[in-house]
Amino acid sequence: MYSRILGTGSALPQRQVRNAELATQVETSDEWVFERTGIRARHVAAPEEMTSDLAAQASRAALRAAGLCADDIDLIVVATTTPDMVFPSTACILQRKLGVPEGAAAFDVQAVCSGFVYALAIADKFIASGQHRHALVVGAEVFSRLLDWSDRRTCVLFGDGGGAVVLGAAAEPGIRSSHLHAAGGQGDILRVQGAPTSGHLADAVFVEMDGQAVFRFAVRVLEQVCKETLQANNISGADIDWLVPHQANIRIIQATARKLGLPPERVVTTLEDQGNTSAASVPLALDAAVRDGRIQRGHTVLLEAVGGGMTWGSVLLTY
Ligand code: UT7
Repeated sequence: MYSRILGTGSALPQRQVRNAELATQVETSDEWVFERTGIRARHVAAPEEMTSDLAAQASRAALRAAGLCADDIDLIVVATTTPDMVFPSTACILQRKLGVPEGAAAFDVQAVCSGFVYALAIADKFIASGQHRHALVVGAEVFSRLLDWSDRRTCVLFGDGGGAVVLGAAAEPGIRSSHLHAAGGQGDILRVQGAPTSGHLADAVFVEMDGQAVFRFAVRVLEQVCKETLQANNISGADIDWLVPHQANIRIIQATARKLGLPPERVVTTLEDQGNTSAASVPLALDAAVRDGRIQRGHTVLLEAVGGGMTWGSVLLTY
C-alpha cells in the first residue's frame, strides 16, 4: 500500500506585520532584513488565536480540496512547536474542533521547523502499513509567542500560520521516499529553553539562536539530504519539477536549489510575505503552489526542511 496527497489547505492570521513596522520597535530596517533573509512581512496571530484554530482552518480547506469530510479521517498528525497547551495534544484538540470521529488516532510531532516533513513521513508509513486510510497531516504554529520582540536577531525572522494535507491510501506512490535525520549534539545553536516545574515555567521561553551556525548547518545538511533523496530514487535534479523548501532564509533556499541544478522558477517561495513559520512553512508553500496551478498532478515534488533539534529531512513525492 502507498499514500498520496488528496488535497491541501492553509491558513494565515489576518494581521500582517511588515519590516517597516518592526523597524519602529527595534534597531533594524526593511533593507537589512530583506537583503539578509528575503523576508518583507510576516503574519501574527491575534491573542485569542491558537495553533489549533489555524490547524482547523487549514484542515477544512484540505478536506474540501480532497472532497472528503471529517468522518473519513482515521489519523491526525500535527507538527507544532507551539501547542495550545501541555495536553491534550493539539491533534486531539483539532479532532474535537473538526468533529473527527472518536477512535481515530491523533498525536503531535515535535521536530520544530522539520516537523511537517517528519509528520508526513510518519503518516505515510501508517498508511503504508494498511492500518489507516485517510490522514490529516498538519503543520501549524503561533511562533510569534516564542519571540523576544526586543531581540532584532530573531524577531524579524518568524511568523504564524498553518498548512495541512489529506493523505490517502493509494495503489501507486504518492510519497516515493522520506529521509529523516537529527543531531541532538547540535541542539544548543537553536533552542527555546523552559520546562514546566511545579506549575511554573523555568527560564525565559524565547528563541535563542546562533544565526551563522544555523545557517552553515542548514546549507550542509540540506545538500546531503537532497543528494540522499535523489540517490535513493535513482533520479537527478533535472527530474524534480518543484522544490518546496522550508522557508527560513532565501540564501539557504538558493544554495540548495543551486546544488540540485534547479532554476529559481522551479522553487516555491512564500517567505517574502510570511517569514519563517516553522512547521507550517512547507505545507503553506505546497498549498500556495497547488492552488495557483504550478504544481500539477503527476509532477515530481521535493520537500525539505531543517530546524531545531537539530532535525532535518526530505520527502520526494509524485503529486
Ligand atoms: O528554521 C531555521 C531557523 N533559523 C535560520 O534559518 C537562521 C539561519 N541564519 C540566518 O538566516 C542568518 O544568519 C541571519 C539572517 C539570522 C543573520 O544574518 P547574517 O548575515 O548571518 O548576520 P550576522 O548574524 O553575521 O550579523 C551581522 C550584523 C551584526 O552586527 P555587527 O556585530 O556586525 O555590528 C548583527 O548585530 O547584523 C546585525 N544584525 C542586525 N542588523 C539589523 C542582526 N540582526 C539584525 C537586524 N537588523 N534585524
